This record gives sequence, structure tokens and C-alpha cells, in this order.
Amino acid sequence: MRRKLAAGNWKMNGTVEDLIELGQIAGLAAEDGPTVLICPPATLISRAADAARGTMLAIGGQDCHTAGSGAHTGDISALMLRDAGATHVILGHSERRADHGESDTLVSEKAVAAAAAGVAPIICVGETLAEREAGETLAVVGTQLAGSVPRSLTDLVIAYEPVWAIGTGKVPTMAQIAEVHGFIRAELGKMSAAFSAEATPILYGGSVKPGNAAEIFAVADVDGALVGGASLKAADFGPIVAALEAAA
Ligand code: PGA
Repeated sequence: MRRKLAAGNWKMNGTVEDLIELGQIAGLAAEDGPTVLICPPATLISRAADAARGTMLAIGGQDCHTAGSGAHTGDISALMLRDAGATHVILGHSERRADHGESDTLVSEKAVAAAAAGVAPIICVGETLAEREAGETLAVVGTQLAGSVPRSLTDLVIAYEPVWAIGTGKVPTMAQIAEVHGFIRAELGKMSAAFSAEATPILYGGSVKPGNAAEIFAVADVDGALVGGASLKAADFGPIVAALEAAA
């Protein structure tokens, strides 16, 4: 059975005072419930990991470099994430792909580096609005999967995040989510790979809120969510975690 995952992406939000909120979010994580993960900005990972110690809350990074160390000013390696207390790392988020020109190949190399450091990669894929309107969603997602997911990984998470749904309040129809998640599961199954497609959690991301979480989690092949804005406050993230726990 796939473990459910409620992952929060704090993006470039959060300073030391927000660790109070993180402490409240840690209270949402239970041994018999879904995995609850917060990916704070890099500056807070170590302190967040300290704050989460003794709780079931997992802490992750939002990106990593392909190398373990070296002359790469401003970058952070997966080893450093692990050292700071991270167990997961978001890779290939559409904001990284757009703002930093990250390619599928780079995302794949980062995923290999993360896995080698003992950090589980959460690999993001998703189409733009123009691509959806052109009927290219499955082709785009298929290409991103083929290029971004290393066959050698044994443990990974996929996040389907339509670019047009991120931070916009717009959400695909449940039929559209079902179509893409089913497609992703089938594509993963076709890769002759070290990982099992059946065991790989596939998260939905893009404007997940307390009010739509239950409906989204009822969709086949949705194993959790990658949540941006609604993960910043325990009052918003709590109902999302509860909806995931309640989902069949
Ligand atoms: P959102 O962001 O929940 O604020 O739409 C999701 C994401 O970018 O991971």
C-alpha cells in the first residue's frame, strides 16, 4: 500500500518567527496518519528539523544541486539538506523550471544526487495553460516524466502540478486530475525501472485548499498533495491533512 503524503511547500516564505506555526503543524502528524512534510526555505531547514524532533513531522528542501560539494556559489547540495535534517527534496518545481530554466535532464541529475545522499526526491511535472488548451497535457507530462525521472531510483514521489493551477485558485476538474494521475501511473509502469509504479505516491498540487481537498483526495491515483499557500498556516493545512487521512 502506498503511504499518503501531505507535503507543504513554503517557497520563499518564512522566518524564525514562523517556527511557531511549524510547531503547530507538527501536531498534525501522527504515527498512523499520512506522512506530513514541510519544505521551508533553506535558511530554516535546520531549525525546522530541530523544532520537529520528537514529532512525526518530516522536513524537506525545495531544490538541490547535482554535486555533493564544490564551487557553486549560492547552491545547496543534497548532502547538506540531509545534514540539516531534510528527508525529502522538491525537484523540478515549475517555478524552478521557469525562473531558473531547469531542464528535465537537470532535474533527473538532481534526483540521482538526492537519492545518493539519502534524500527522497519529489519530482514535479505539469502543463501550462497554453499546453492544456492545445490538447498537449499528456504529451507534455509524458515527456517531463521520461526526462526527469531516473530509472535507477528506488524511492521517489511524483507531484502533478498544472502550472496554471499554482497559486491561482483554479483547479482542474476531478476528471482531468484522474486522467493525468492514471496516465502518470501507467507511464511509470512502462519504465523499466528500479522503482515500483504501484508503490510510488503521486501527489496533486495547485490551489489545494481545505474546501477542495476531500474531493481531490477521492480521485483515483491521488496519494496526497503538494500544497503551497495553504501549508503556511496550521489552520489551513490541518483540514487538508485530515481530509487525506479520511480518504479511502
Ligand atoms: P499553491 O502552490 O498550493 O499555492 O497553488 C502549490 C505548489 O506550487 O506546490
